[in-house]
Amino acid sequence: MAETLFDLPLVLLSNRGPLTFDRDSSGRTVSRGSGGLVSALAGLAEHLDDHVWVCGAASEEDAAVARENTDGRVAVQMHPFPHVVEGDPDGPALRVRIVETDPAAYADFYGVWSNPILWFIQHGLYGRTLSPVLTQSDHTAFESGYAAVNLAYADAVVDEVRARGGKAVVLLQDYHFYLVAEHVRRQCPDVVLTHFIHIPWPSADDWRILPPAIRERLLYGLLGSDVVGFHTRRYATHFVQSVQELLGLPVDLDELTITVGDRTVRARYYPISVDPAALDSVAGSAEVVEYAATLEQFFRDEGRQLVVRVDRTDPSKNVVRGFLAFGALLDQHPELVGRVGFLALLQPSRTDVTEYADYIALVGAVVAEINARHTKDGRQPIDLRMVEDFPLAVAAYKVCDVLMVSAIADGMNLVAKEVAVVNQRDGVLALSENVGAHEELGEFAVTLHPFDIQQMAEALYEALTMPAPDRHRRMQAAGEQVRTYDVARWLNDQIDDLRRLAGFV
Ligand code: G6P
Repeated sequence: MAETLFDLPLVLLSNRGPLTFDRDSSGRTVSRGSGGLVSALAGLAEHLDDHVWVCGAASEEDAAVARENTDGRVAVQMHPFPHVVEGDPDGPALRVRIVETDPAAYADFYGVWSNPILWFIQHGLYGRTLSPVLTQSDHTAFESGYAAVNLAYADAVVDEVRARGGKAVVLLQDYHFYLVAEHVRRQCPDVVLTHFIHIPWPSADDWRILPPAIRERLLYGLLGSDVVGFHTRRYATHFVQSVQELLGLPVDLDELTITVGDRTVRARYYPISVDPAALDSVAGSAEVVEYAATLEQFFRDEGRQLVVRVDRTDPSKNVVRGFLAFGALLDQHPELVGRVGFLALLQPSRTDVTEYADYIALVGAVVAEINARHTKDGRQPIDLRMVEDFPLAVAAYKVCDVLMVSAIADGMNLVAKEVAVVNQRDGVLALSENVGAHEELGEFAVTLHPFDIQQMAEALYEALTMPAPDRHRRMQAAGEQVRTYDVARWLNDQIDDLRRLAGFV
């Protein structure tokens, strides 16, 4: 499908690129970005003759690579392992342009505005009584950080579009770049542009946390797109309502369209998913099989049951309340003490953001308290590991009896989908109603209400005591759903819409 996409070149933009450079004792190393997004977009782009993936320099070594190459352009092959190719690549290759920005500006862009401010607003994490407190320094950081870095990336995109005659399909990714589309549209009116947002889009009232001048710029920035994409209909609807309420533009809430001058901007939803074939192969690898055997032996001996959670340490994941609910379950069902273990694999995330560091400290304290209360025969109920180890996570997915996803809000939550593909124990998904995946998988899951500890404890009990045929039916159906709506489908649906817009069908 890829070669005949649009008869137009493709320009992608994301903050983190498909690969990261680093340095160890042997010299420069290069590794592939993790996750379904990289697989899907890299898989698409590397088969197109004319494409470029614009991204930020995420490490010192990325910046060094950007400086060594004209305009930060490098060609890389992803298979069998990622490597830079000099000259004309033989076979599929990715064209990457790494943009290096001023470190102080980048710090304000990433560490002040993207995370936490935009991230916190979009995940509903601000308490409002005392936070956020926006000061002069945040206003300055918006201009000299978020806006300046957006402009630098937008200039790189414009440069790439112009180098291709001013016409291209442009795919922008995520909340880092709300000001890019408008700039690109002004400079290159012939682009076909989608901005996909991977995190929730909250209601208009939540956006009122931001000063009017800033929220209006963010919204007008996004309206430079032809399509603004989300994971769920709810987020797409919120977006159109935000534009209606905060900008006063005419909208159609059934069609999810917005009129901006003589243009129509469409809000669409495309639920992102996983690559089942890739997951199957990881799940079948020797490393995962060995890990799974060890986990079985350690956690599931003598008929014990295993609850698993795998999350980044983002406060939005609601790990603290999740553990409190597990503690309440053990308080209320003492017969389960010593019979149920909880393995939590938490991947450190954005450790330089204060709110994250504080949250991780709290997680540790809560776990220590519950373990002290419920240790039996030398066995602690919660095994908390701060690791990023994908094979170990997949092994846990395979053997768990219950997966807990208790997020306060999450754009999609791919962990739930990964478990649905690889689980071998007819595990039960215990899924927060506030994650995008609940729209697709909720009917096969037990629903968690992420602020209600008692409800979550009861839902965990229901999951752990669910009759085998019921568990089997639900997990089968969830697996089928994810295998049908996989990541290729996510991308193809967007491409089909763009082709229609660009007049190719
Ligand atoms: C989460 C979001 C993604 C986002 C990513 C950025 O996973 O769901 O949409 O791209 O965070 O993470 P980073 O580590 O680059 O800040």
